[in-house]
Amino acid sequence: MAKDYPGKTIWITGASSGIGEAMALEATRRGARLILTSRRREALEAVAEGCAHEAERSSSGAPPATVLPADLASPEARAAACDALRRQGPVDIAILNAGISQRATFLETPPESFSAVMALDFDAPVDLVRRLLPGMIERGSGSLVAISSMAGLAGAPLRPAYSAAKHALAGFFQSLRSELVGTGIRIVVAYPGYVRTGIARSALGPGGKPMGVEDPHISGGGDPAAAARRILDAVIRGPLELKLAFGIKMRFGLFLSRRLPGLWANMSARHAGIVPRGQSSRPAIADKRRA
Ligand SMILES: NC(=O)c1ccc[n+]([C@@H]2O[C@H](COP(=O)([O-])OP(=O)(O)OC[C@H]3O[C@@H](n4cnc5c(N)ncnc54)[C@H](OP(=O)(O)O)[C@@H]3O)[C@@H](O)[C@H]2O)c1
Repeated sequence: MAKDYPGKTIWITGASSGIGEAMALEATRRGARLILTSRRREALEAVAEGCAHEAERSSSGAPPATVLPADLASPEARAAACDALRRQGPVDIAILNAGISQRATFLETPPESFSAVMALDFDAPVDLVRRLLPGMIERGSGSLVAISSMAGLAGAPLRPAYSAAKHALAGFFQSLRSELVGTGIRIVVAYPGYVRTGIARSALGPGGKPMGVEDPHISGGGDPAAAARRILDAVIRGPLELKLAFGIKMRFGLFLSRRLPGLWANMSARHAGIVPRGQSSRPAIADKRRA
């Protein structure tokens, strides 16, 4: 195992579960000093404890992780979190991973849900970059990592807000990458396909209620630890645009969405259960909301 992050401070948002938790464990094995953020303090403390065990087991020399709970959908909480970060010294790498998904058609999605998804998945990372970037430019170094999605590369049915937010996020970071050429700042955007986490449970369903159930595609998805390894590799030397857990079907879907958008719309509607397989038209919206 390469201990390629000794002495580096990494801030991970959305670190209490899923891909964020896996990145915390992986960064610990690589010797990083971690600051972990999400809303749930107890869950973050459990991850920090897991990191302490991992540091000992791997003899990585990683110092104990710091827990910094914050509701990143709130501008005030973001400002307070960044003030607290400044007091801890410079952040070398910010992995802006906190996110929420959705499972509802556009007309079933109340404006409040649309705003909630945009607030966390797009507004929050943009605001955090606004706060972190001046220090990185001054130091002439730093890495910013955004976690977009396959839904940020191709429009996905039952995810109009999520897909919009993840496209916007990718566009923002790609634009920033060009602006920052020659500053020593590295921008990585990751596009996971299906990764085995609990994201489907918290996804906002029709009327804005969390779905509260697993999604078979997500629960049968790729290993979060493998995704974490690839993201942390990319921060140092890997591709700047990183597709994760992208099987053959995902790659074919992406190809279709670019070259044959009508066929992609048709196939993805069937995949999402909007048009039942074997039928040429939709009855009502099926309530089978999958990944
Ligand atoms: N899993 C997949 O298949 C997949 C695919 C494509 C993209 N992604 C992206 O990967 C990222 C991580 O998701 P995941 O799959 O690991 O799901 P997850 O386990 O549900 O992780 C989401 C994280 O975001 C945090 N979070 C939610 N609301 C927050 C808020 N208001 N303020 C601060 N933190 C908040 C959650 O912690 P708290 O509840 O403690 O706040 C949790 O740590 C997301 O951006 C997601 O869109 C995942």
